[in-house]
Amino acid sequence: MEENPLKLRKIHHVQFWVGNALQAAEYYRRAFGFTRFAYAGLETGQRALASHALRQGTIRLVMSSPLSADHPASAHVARHGDGVRDIAFEVDDAEAAFREAVRRGARPAFEPREESDEHGTIHRAAIHTYGDTIHSFISLNGYAGPFLPGYREQPAAGADAGLLRIDHIVGNVELGKMNEWAAWYSDVLGFKRYLTFEDKDISTEYSALMSIVMSDDAYAIKFPINEPAPGRKKSQIDEYLDFYGGPGVQHIAMLTTDIARTVRALKGGGVTFLAVPAAYYEALADRVGRIDEETGMVRDLGILVDRDEDGYLLQLFTRPVEDRPTLFFEVIQRKGSRGFGKGNFKALFEAIEREQALRGNL
Ligand code: FE2
Repeated sequence: MEENPLKLRKIHHVQFWVGNALQAAEYYRRAFGFTRFAYAGLETGQRALASHALRQGTIRLVMSSPLSADHPASAHVARHGDGVRDIAFEVDDAEAAFREAVRRGARPAFEPREESDEHGTIHRAAIHTYGDTIHSFISLNGYAGPFLPGYREQPAAGADAGLLRIDHIVGNVELGKMNEWAAWYSDVLGFKRYLTFEDKDISTEYSALMSIVMSDDAYAIKFPINEPAPGRKKSQIDEYLDFYGGPGVQHIAMLTTDIARTVRALKGGGVTFLAVPAAYYEALADRVGRIDEETGMVRDLGILVDRDEDGYLLQLFTRPVEDRPTLFFEVIQRKGSRGFGKGNFKALFEAIEREQALRGNL
């Protein structure tokens, strides 16, 4: 397989379509410590969509709301609630990436176009992935504005919580579709199955997960894909698919190098995390052995730990960040491990199921 056939460089940003972008952006600023740094809307000549761009470390999230009922974002919000619309890639050449993706079987979302303002001109095109989610290809051509054409600076600093970069973005797809989408990422984007995973390792009673990794040398972008497993209970993936109205982004994992500091900051900002059963910590030392962190801190903050052949990782998961039980976030710190915490699945799933039962969805 050709290495990186679309010349993807990195995730440029993740765009959410939400009911109220102004308030959503303020939530991510106050709760997660993102800085609001750019805005596009009526005041900047954008009459269709209002967008607030947020950043922390190299992570860029964009909250966008439609300004009329006939904008496609209105139907998207009606169907899905707030959710991820676009995982946008920076590429060398947006038109070339788009043509190659379509040649490899991608369904076009929009054709290559130029977007300009006084700071320069970018090129942009997009393809569909699972559900109503798209991947934009953006080539910046030395664009010098604060974010993208149409945006102006609008600085509103957040209290940085130490979130550095996106580690992985997980998609939920329907039963039986995981392999299909894994193949799609391989065929169309040239991604590879992540080396450290065996399918059987990461299938549980409740769901299965396959990981696809971007084919650059740094293994910089990881896209795990989940599907529900047929079981006696309704899986968390089923619950997501019901309330999101189909496949979509389940969670975005953000990397930190000081999870205690990050989690304290997020909790201080009002972010709520899944509660971990007390029994989890009784078995922890036997399961993962020695770790650098104090076990008291790990337990008090509700952090999960998992070890594999390369090292270990610390992680924890927020509750869904909207009323529908759909999108949530993960905070992750890696100490050698390149995995996703498969040893935590059982503890995690038990925690999720307790909350699912409270919602009457189990
Ligand atoms: Fe994850």
